[in-house]
Parts: sequence; C-alpha cells; structure tokens
Amino acid sequence: MVVPFKLGAKQLVCGYEQVVLNRASFQLEPGKITGVIGQNGSGKSTLGLILAGLNRNYRGRIILDQQPLKPRVAARLLQHETALVFQNPDHSLLFTRVRDDFEFILQNFQVSGSSWGERIQHALSIVGLEKFLDANPYELSGGERQRLAIALAIVRDPACLIYDEATSMLDTDARTRIYQILQDLKTAHKTQLWITHNLDELLVVDNVLVLANHTIKQYTRAEILHQPKILVQAGLKPTLVLELVYQLQKRGHEVQNLADLQREIHAL
Ligand SMILES: Nc1ncnc2c1ncn2[C@@H]1O[C@H](COP(=O)(O)OP(=O)(O)O)[C@@H](O)[C@H]1O
Ligand SMILES: [Mg+2]
Repeated sequence: MVVPFKLGAKQLVCGYEQVVLNRASFQLEPGKITGVIGQNGSGKSTLGLILAGLNRNYRGRIILDQQPLKPRVAARLLQHETALVFQNPDHSLLFTRVRDDFEFILQNFQVSGSSWGERIQHALSIVGLEKFLDANPYELSGGERQRLAIALAIVRDPACLIYDEATSMLDTDARTRIYQILQDLKTAHKTQLWITHNLDELLVVDNVLVLANHTIKQYTRAEILHQPKILVQAGLKPTLVLELVYQLQKRGHEVQNLADLQREIHAL
C-alpha cells in the first residue's frame, strides 16, 4: 500500500537580507507533479531548499501529514523524505565510478547493505542507465549525467523529489527523456516538485505554484493553460508554445499536455 505523502507549508516567511516569501501557504497534492514558477529571484530555489530540509532559516511551519513542524524537526524529516536534483548534475556526483556514488549515498542514509544491489539496479533501470554501473560518470553525456543524478536521488526511495531547473542545461532530446522519467515516477506514486523558468514545461506538470509578490498561489495546470493573465500578473511572459496552446484552447481544442499539443500541430 502506498502511504500518501502530504507536504505543505503554513505562513512561511523566509529570506536572507530581504524577505523572499512572506506568509506563504500551500499544500502539495500527493503523487502529483507540481510545477513551481516565478520570476528570477522570486524564491523558487529557496523554497526547494526548505522543502528538501536543507534550509532551516524561516518562520512559519512546514506541514507534514497534517502535523505543523518546527524548522529543526521538519529539516530532519524532510532530509529523509525528499531528495533534490540540481540544475547541474555534477553537483550530485563525487566519484569516478557510478557504483561508488550510489554506495556513498546508501551508506550515508544507513540503508541496509543487503538491499543495495537491488536498489541500485532498480534506480538505474528507471532512468535507462542499467549498463553504466561501473562507468565513469564524467564520461557520460550531460543528459545521461542528469538521469544518473535522478537515479542517485531515488535510490534511497524518498517519497518526494524536488528538481531545481533540472533540464536547463540539456538539449531537447535529453529533456524529453527526463519528462518521461517524471511520468514514470508519478506512476510509482512519487510526489514531485518541478521548479522551472521554462514555461513550456507547464505542459508536463499537474499543478502549479506561482511565486510572485512574496507569496505563493496555487493553480491546476488547466487553470494556468486557460487563463493567460495568471502568468502575466506574476510578471511572466508566456512563451510561443503557450501562446499556441491558448489559441488552440480558444478554438475549442483541449490541450493539456505535450502529447495533446503534438497531436493538434500534426492535425493543422
Ligand atoms: N544564500 C543567499 N544569500 C543571500 N541572498 C540569497 C541567497 N540565496 C538567494 N538569495 C536571494 O534571495 C532571493 C530569492 O532567490 P532564489 O530563491 O534563488 O530565487 P529563484 O530561484 O526564484 O531565482 C534573490 O533575491 C536572491 O538574490
Ligand atoms: Mg533558482
């Protein structure tokens, strides 16, 4: 049985010299992909670090399974329940052999040694890198390295994955493979937070947190794709792909994801 992972925040106040988020509240939908968008400096990465348990410098409460938690307690639980995938995959790599990177993580998280082999093979198979166990990560392509970073994030089986601009260094093919991995992990009931400045990626998420004016608003993907003003009010400029989606919607063509869009374009 899958236990739903219920993560949210109440009245979150965070920042550095200046306040970034001021009394922001939200609730992630378990098992879904939630996009996080907002202008540069709106606090996307700060939020990602807090939810990964790597930043405790905030006021307000993280809510885990309906329990409001103080920052110190939240950080300890979140470090176990979530994993962060960075923009640059090299930030997840330490060794010159794939196997060593996995073993380092499993050891750090005190995962029982008897399950290591199976866990590592499973993680590598999800990202399509089964054959690379003894490879040197630095000899992999950028896209392969980012998939390896995802495998390293999932090997200890966290309930929630947080990606911070994880495709921004990748070409279109490599990006598309990562979108497929997101869908596969959704099927495996992972809760996923997809931080991005690429608004085209709204087509791969289910829900959206929009960060603007020091606060967070929550929308479904359908709301975002039907109401261009939501992005504009957050100071974001819809991409050409989104403009096309809006126009198609206006003409009665329902476009909810990349596959819908491809179908509509081929039909033109
Ligand atoms: N470690 C830090 N020290 C001081 N200021 C920071 C730090 N990290 C981020 N900031 C500032 O906090 C604000 C939010 O940053 P960030 O969360 O990185 O936004 P985003 O990811 O949306 O671009 C920005 O103004 C940024 O300059
Ligand atoms: Mg950022």
